[in-house]
Amino acid sequence: MTDKATTLAHAAREAAGSCALVRDPASFSFLRKAVAAVMTVSGPLSPLALFRILRRVAPYTMVPPIGVAFAAQEAAKAAEGGGQIVECGAWMGGTSFAMALAQRRRFGRVRAPVWMFDSFKGLPQPDARDGEAAFRLMERQPRPLAVPVDTVRALRDALGFGESDAPIVPGWFDQTLPQSVAALRAGGGIALLRLDGDWYESTLTALRTLLPLVRVGGVVIIDDYYAWEGCARAVHEVLAAEPVVPRLRTAPGAAGAWFVRAGG
Ligand SMILES: C[S@@+](CC[C@H](N)C(=O)[O-])C[C@H]1O[C@@H](n2cnc3c(N)ncnc32)[C@H](O)[C@@H]1O
Repeated sequence: MTDKATTLAHAAREAAGSCALVRDPASFSFLRKAVAAVMTVSGPLSPLALFRILRRVAPYTMVPPIGVAFAAQEAAKAAEGGGQIVECGAWMGGTSFAMALAQRRRFGRVRAPVWMFDSFKGLPQPDARDGEAAFRLMERQPRPLAVPVDTVRALRDALGFGESDAPIVPGWFDQTLPQSVAALRAGGGIALLRLDGDWYESTLTALRTLLPLVRVGGVVIIDDYYAWEGCARAVHEVLAAEPVVPRLRTAPGAAGAWFVRAGG
């Protein structure tokens, strides 16, 4: 990691007030988890290549190494067939960057652009469907996870990616996702959709708007399925209405759930 990227990441964490959520890539705890992750998650990238990616993005993500490893391997696979990759809830960008780095490692370039959607203003208010734990989080820290979008752009640039590799779309999902549908469709649809917006309404909006764009055989990863009540509720609501109901699978290390978009 360059000095500039380290400084930027530190500034972003300070601004977000969430230093405890990210990992120090030199710590024993991170190294132990990263080694376990690369030995567990298989895919086109070698364990060593995957380990390097995990270390590179560790300061910019709160997702555990096994969750980042799964996203990176799936991105390296998904990009083979074209289309695009979307993350709803990019925060500082770590997991999105891992999905771009995985492609650069495999193909020498980003084949499937990684779209990064986030308010960059922090989490919106939960509602009753999100459960008590969501309200407790918001009481502890009103508007957690705000991070300046310019810092995330600078981190992306420091990793050598441009807007065409990883478009950053700031704003609330109910505005930005519908506005992006035409461009995503024109780009060949979605090969991999990663949902990480925590709450019921955020997950529901993202799934309702983007699931129709996911290619048959495309993968949808739901980071918060086991973590937050409202996320699981939204997933079941949307999937129950699908003509062919996808079967949920548990991601490695129980770092979320995932499914493959069925044909119909
Ligand atoms: C848990 S964080 C994402 C973590 C990130 N994927 C990582 O690698 O560390 C959740 C993010 O979702 C964003 N978010 C949640 N609901 C949103 C909404 N309705 N519109 C826009 N952003 C939203 C928040 O701003 C926050 O940055």
